[in-house]
Amino acid sequence: MAHPVPASDPAEALRLAALRPSEYTAALIHALQARADRVRGGAVLEIGSGSGVVLAALGALGAASLCGIDIEEDAVDAGMLLLAELGHGAVSELHQGDMWLPVAGRRFDLIVANLPHFPMERHEVLGRRPTWSAGGNNGRALLDRFLEGLDAHLLQGGCAVVTHNAFVGMDRTREMLRARGMTMAVVQSILVGIPDEKMGRMTPSVLAAELGRTLHRFGPYCFGEVNVLEIARIGARG
Ligand SMILES: C[S@@+](CC[C@H](N)C(=O)[O-])C[C@H]1O[C@@H](n2cnc3c(N)ncnc32)[C@H](O)[C@@H]1O
Repeated sequence: MAHPVPASDPAEALRLAALRPSEYTAALIHALQARADRVRGGAVLEIGSGSGVVLAALGALGAASLCGIDIEEDAVDAGMLLLAELGHGAVSELHQGDMWLPVAGRRFDLIVANLPHFPMERHEVLGRRPTWSAGGNNGRALLDRFLEGLDAHLLQGGCAVVTHNAFVGMDRTREMLRARGMTMAVVQSILVGIPDEKMGRMTPSVLAAELGRTLHRFGPYCFGEVNVLEIARIGARG
């Protein structure tokens, strides 16, 4: 079934374009497809569900239930529409809200996230909402809150799969996890192109520290290293 973008309604088309999946989305879906055994039959949660396409991929892999959270009302509407169209409506719930708040006290088998964690202050770039990419000065405003809340929302034997810009501190994430009894493994690494508009807004100290390390510039073209992490409690990795 085609997604109902009414050609006659440019405002609606723009709204959906703002939620278009990115290279990060694709990498996350690819990593999840490679661990279908962890998805099948499980209760899954996505924080920052955007278009809903990652939840749709999890539904296609056989997740028993799909829960999504997004701060943007448009994302919740678009996500529910997509999941219903693809036949997952009966097992799906999407909540508008901030990070873990809508699922306080609940636990899941698998938690996935492609959080806004680009090191810049909130601004509308590339036709996206200001909430899409910006992770604040060091990029970690939401990432740190995610890591702080993760253990309290994972079922026994559960795990998380998340995208992680290499230029916002892999070591800090490793340390935060270790302090909470968790461990991480890099399951995929890619280079993503970073458009000028975004590079121009990157926190200068991050750019200075990471250029030639995890950020690579060739003339006018810039790329950043992005990892997909699998996170589990120490000793629980299967
Ligand atoms: C980089 S996008 C990823 C969207 C989708 N998961 C994907 O991969 O295509 C990040 C998403 O997080 C949402 N978001 C931003 N701040 C949030 C918050 N405090 N709580 C929940 N979601 C948030 C944004 O609205 C956006 O949809």
